[in-house]
Amino acid sequence: MKRILLCPPTNFDIEYEINPWMHVERKVDKAKAMAAYDDLKRIYESLGVQVFEIPQEKDLPDMVYVTDTGHAVGDIFIAANFRYPERRRESAVVAKYLEDKFGFTTAHIPDGIFFEGHGDLVVSDEVYFMGYGKRSMIEALPYLQKYISQPVIPIELVDPYYYHLDTCFAILNPEVALINPTSFTKKGLEQIHSHFKRVIEASPIDHQVLACNLVTIDNHLITALGISDTLQTELEKLGFIVHLVDTVEYRKGGGSVRCMTFEF
Ligand code: ARG
Repeated sequence: MKRILLCPPTNFDIEYEINPWMHVERKVDKAKAMAAYDDLKRIYESLGVQVFEIPQEKDLPDMVYVTDTGHAVGDIFIAANFRYPERRRESAVVAKYLEDKFGFTTAHIPDGIFFEGHGDLVVSDEVYFMGYGKRSMIEALPYLQKYISQPVIPIELVDPYYYHLDTCFAILNPEVALINPTSFTKKGLEQIHSHFKRVIEASPIDHQVLACNLVTIDNHLITALGISDTLQTELEKLGFIVHLVDTVEYRKGGGSVRCMTFEF
C-alpha cells in the first residue's frame, strides 16, 4: 500500500445538491464527522500506512471526498474535470499540494470531458475499471489510457444514487468483486462477471450504507458501520479483518470510506 491523503472535515457541509443523497436541509453534524475522520485516520495509521492531510478550503464543502480530485500514476497526477462547477476548483487545490509537497506533475484532460478521478476508477494490479455515464464521460478513457499501462474497461452507471463506480463496485481480490447489481446495465454486469470468478451481490441494506465504498490494505478491509452481518461474515471468510467506521455524516453527501481516501 502506498500513501494516503485525507482531508479533515473542517468545512464539510451540504451546501448544494448534486446527487440524490444530498439535501441542503440535512446538515452535517461536525463533531460526528470529525470523530469518523479521526477513526479512519487511526485505522490507517495502525496499519502502518503513511497518512497525509490536506486542509479543507472554506468554499469547497465536498473536498472531504478527496479521492475524486484525480488519479495518481507514479508521480503523475491526472487531475479531475468535475462535472459540477461546485467541485471544479478541488482538483487544482490537490494538484498544487501534490506538486509542491511530493514533486508530482499534473496531467490535464481537455475541458468539457468530465472525469471524476479515483472515484470513478476501481483498480487492481491487472486491470482498471472506469465508471461513466453519471459523472465521468467515456470520452475521458483514451486520455487516461495514455498514462495507465493496464487496460481500462469502461462500465456504464445507471443508478443516480450510485453515480461513481466506487459507490457500487469493489475488487476484493483478483478473483472476487463486490457489487450493487442494480447500478449497471446488462452489458456492464456481463463485463464484470467475465473478469471475476465470483461476484458478490450485497443486499440493499449494505448498499444503503455504501458498503462497496471500501478500502483494502493487505488483509484488512475498511468500510461503513451498518453493513449486514451476512456481508461481514462473507468478507471475513475471504480472509479479511473488517474495520467499520461510522460514516453516517459522509453519506449525507453521498460518500463513505473510499471517497475520503486518496491513494498515491
Ligand atoms: N457530494 C459528493 C459528490 O456528489 C460526494 C462524492 C463521493 N465520492 C465518491 N468517490 N463516491 O460529488
